[in-house]
Amino acid sequence: MSINRILVADDEESMRWVLAKALEKKGFSVDLAANGDQAQNLFDRNEYDLAILDIKMPGTTGLELLQRFRELRPDKLVIIMTAESSMENAVTAMKLGAYDYITKPFDLNALDAIILKAQKALDITTEVHQLKTELQEPYRLHRAIIGSSAAMQQVYKIVGKTAASDVTVLITGESGTGKELIARALHYNSRRLGKPFVAINCAAIPRELLESELFGHEKGAFTGATERRFGKFEQAKGGTLFLDEIGDMPLELQTKLLRVLQEKEITRTGGNTTIQVDVRIIAATNQNIAEKIKLNEFREDLFYRLNVVPIVLPPLRERMEDIHDLTHFFINKANEELGVKIQGCCEETMNLLRSYHWPGNIRELENTLYRATLLASDKILAPTDFPDLVPRSTVSEKGASLEDLITGKLNASLAQMDINELDDLYDMVLQQMERPLIKIILLKTRNNQVRAAEILGINRNTLRKKIQTLGIEIKKG
Ligand SMILES: Nc1ncnc2c1ncn2[C@@H]1O[C@H](COP(=O)(O)OP(=O)(O)OP(=O)(O)O)[C@@H](O)[C@H]1O
Ligand SMILES: [Mg+2]
Repeated sequence: MSINRILVADDEESMRWVLAKALEKKGFSVDLAANGDQAQNLFDRNEYDLAILDIKMPGTTGLELLQRFRELRPDKLVIIMTAESSMENAVTAMKLGAYDYITKPFDLNALDAIILKAQKALDITTEVHQLKTELQEPYRLHRAIIGSSAAMQQVYKIVGKTAASDVTVLITGESGTGKELIARALHYNSRRLGKPFVAINCAAIPRELLESELFGHEKGAFTGATERRFGKFEQAKGGTLFLDEIGDMPLELQTKLLRVLQEKEITRTGGNTTIQVDVRIIAATNQNIAEKIKLNEFREDLFYRLNVVPIVLPPLRERMEDIHDLTHFFINKANEELGVKIQGCCEETMNLLRSYHWPGNIRELENTLYRATLLASDKILAPTDFPDLVPRSTVSEKGASLEDLITGKLNASLAQMDINELDDLYDMVLQQMERPLIKIILLKTRNNQVRAAEILGINRNTLRKKIQTLGIEIKKG
């Protein structure tokens, strides 16, 4: 990366004039700002390799600008100009991340020397960055995302095809299926690599704050807005913005987001200038968006905007063939990160892991294995190292899961009824499940209702009531 475009901010006109002449003569392209706010506006709209800022300006000072620029673009360099009297500020400037400072009045040769040094520093940074990228490349591509099931192959294909372009991707999948991991893979395999990857969880931020988190606000936009604040869109400048849990975004914000996506520009809350944004959008959700659209909780037009390329991550239970590789991957990771020395797991353990239905998907598998490696008494993980793992999707002899069996039975019974005549189907079906379940557990606990209630995870009184209302007979003995 070389220094091409420079932003100069100084309230003294003669100073601007001198600097512009000198720098342009050296072949740089120079933009001038007469105060802090102008500098900020220019910085928001353009890419500068270097900013030379006067420390003392009316309004936004050079130090404030320095702080913001460093926050927004830590990869860019800032040189501060100070008057001899303000050496103390020069120290502050260095602490805030200025590349260097120069004391006024200065000799243009001194400035040349600093710019030359800055260029060298940039070259080294670029080189280190490239080296790092090269080193990480095999890790990213071959290690970080595990799974060779057909379902995952399909996902890799889409990632590969879309990584290089700027299309919007919507990733859907249950919790813990790796949505964020895939979003990062899309970013790191794109031309935006090296630019920021900024994630925002739309479900975790209170709705009053979400708008300003996304789009930023101007000083004084509302009570408490004591400073101008850059939103995630601006922080992600040139990179990727990951809108996580987009299904939870309030409707009014959906409208605003849609407009931003169409126009590719934002307005900070309380501001009136529009700011161009160059970001790639990747969104994710574990909700059923189609359902939300029907309920008028999600805008259909926004959905189409986001869903240009859909990536659907299958739940882990639908790709049990990946359990083997994932297990070994996480055991190795635990060895590295937790300092344990586990060599693997026995066949019986692998079968146990394969028989569980993993509602929390890969995250649950990862946590379960980490816990097991810490508890294990041996170098090979045994089923007893997984005390909490109760296989729920019991596989029958014929190989059909419990869910499959129930689906079959339910379909057959419903086929014999006129369901349009019913209005309590849900309770009816659940009661039919409840009776056999309670009967089995009572049998297993030899009618010990206290224990049965514990196993079922319901209150003792609730169990007693259910036994009555469902007419379950308790045989003594
Ligand atoms: N295919 C995979 N290979 C290796 N690790 C994976 C894979 N998929 C997910 N993980 C790991 O599982 C954990 C959960 O993944 P991630 O946070 O991406 O899931 P998510 O779908 O975003 O979950 P949530 O909906 O809960 O936010 C992470 O630690 C991630 O590294
Ligand atoms: Mg996530």
